Amino acid sequence: MPVTCVVGLQWGDEAKGKIVDLLTAEHEIVVRYQGGANAGHTVVREGKAYKLSLMPSGVFRPDVRCVIAAGVVLNPASLLEEIETLRGHGVRVADNLLISDRAHVIFPWHFEEDRLLDRQCGAEAIGTTMRGIGPCYRDKVGRALAVRVGDMYRADFRERIERIVRAKGEVFAALAAEVTLDAEKIYEEYRGYAERLAPHVADTTAFLLDAVEAERKILFEGAQGALLDIDHGTFPYVTSSNSSGVGAPAGSGVPGRYVEKVIGIIKAYNTRVGGGPFPTEQDNDIGERIRRRGNEYGTVTKRPRRCGWFDAVAARYTARLSGADALALMLLDVLSGLPELKICTAYELDGHRTRDFPAHVDDLRRVEPVYETLPGWSEEIGEATSFDALPDTARRYVARIGQLLGSPVEIVSVGPDRKQTIFDKQ
Ligand code: GDP
Ligand code: IMO
Ligand code: MG
Repeated sequence: MPVTCVVGLQWGDEAKGKIVDLLTAEHEIVVRYQGGANAGHTVVREGKAYKLSLMPSGVFRPDVRCVIAAGVVLNPASLLEEIETLRGHGVRVADNLLISDRAHVIFPWHFEEDRLLDRQCGAEAIGTTMRGIGPCYRDKVGRALAVRVGDMYRADFRERIERIVRAKGEVFAALAAEVTLDAEKIYEEYRGYAERLAPHVADTTAFLLDAVEAERKILFEGAQGALLDIDHGTFPYVTSSNSSGVGAPAGSGVPGRYVEKVIGIIKAYNTRVGGGPFPTEQDNDIGERIRRRGNEYGTVTKRPRRCGWFDAVAARYTARLSGADALALMLLDVLSGLPELKICTAYELDGHRTRDFPAHVDDLRRVEPVYETLPGWSEEIGEATSFDALPDTARRYVARIGQLLGSPVEIVSVGPDRKQTIFDKQ
């Protein structure tokens, strides 16, 4: 498959990092195309867990080109720290990393705005990762106060910073927020970052267009999950980018017609970090048990993740939206020991039963999940290397999810390690 896209189909943390790392063996280029350091992708190598935020998960294979494309919002300090940490572990980061000159840059004012504005969201805050993501995307869309990576190398960079700091100062004053921004200090700091990142900065749009035309094998690595998509997710409890499959062409500059395969990543249950409705949430012993077994704490913010039963209404919606040709069902081992498992197959809303996912968050809040109950399994399955080695009831659970979502489950994951992965055929 020359061009494959990996997309999370839930609210993020579906274990995309593990699958991307595995699939990079068959790819030459791995591309992050949206989001920023709000992402936390885990790759386990030789028993050690690496947490990647901006760095594409292909970085562990030295012959793979890692691309941070135009649609990403880049926190230079965070990326540089990641690079240093990786180098400290002997991972090569050199000409194998390309950063788009079109990507937008996160500045200190974006963190301040994230902190101030999430508070104003009313009863239920979005609960952002506080990484300045939304404010940076807002400035990108607003244009006047935005800085792209390429701008850091222009002669007017200092003046640009001074102008933006003046404008932001007025915004903070209007919000009665005590935020002081020192233009000179920020300029010096970012000039330093720009210098260190310079060897990696390139026109990645041109690079990727040449690559697809040359039929090079490319893997797109989605961040977050499709239910957090700014246009199609559970708005306003979403992130600020197109985190469903539709985001790959926009963020990378590669036309959608080149994407030949979309792999939808799903957990065997649902989780969510931050605010917003979650129809199948289990705020009880079951949720707690899943959280404990699945170690469901945020990779970035360490917040406990909310846990619940698998929501097939939501995942069917996002599988269709993302054009998923195949599914990878992750963390199946976490469900071992539960006597029975529930899958939400429909919603009841105002006395009607539906398989459609509501567009409005208030409707999603009101739905009653309709559950199908399947028998669980008591065995530990972390050692299983084939579908046949899974307990019957686990196989039935996997097959039922594939059937409900209308896509084949081609990969099942039974533990964090590369080895704990079952490929193909049911
Ligand atoms: P991502 O953001 O989608 O890459 O996912 P995260 O890295 O935030 O969260 C997934 C977590 O699950 C990580 O800690 C992984 O090491 C872990 N993990 C991945 N696959 C499995 C699995 O099959 N079973 C278990 N128990 N853990 C897994
Ligand atoms: P990965 O790539 C899970 C959530 C936040 C919050 C909302 C908006 O690791 O799957 P933001 O900081 O983006 O403005 O926060 O989105 N969120 C994630 N949840 N996994 C992620 O990334 C997430 N990135 C953002 O918790 O609810
Ligand atoms: Mg994550």
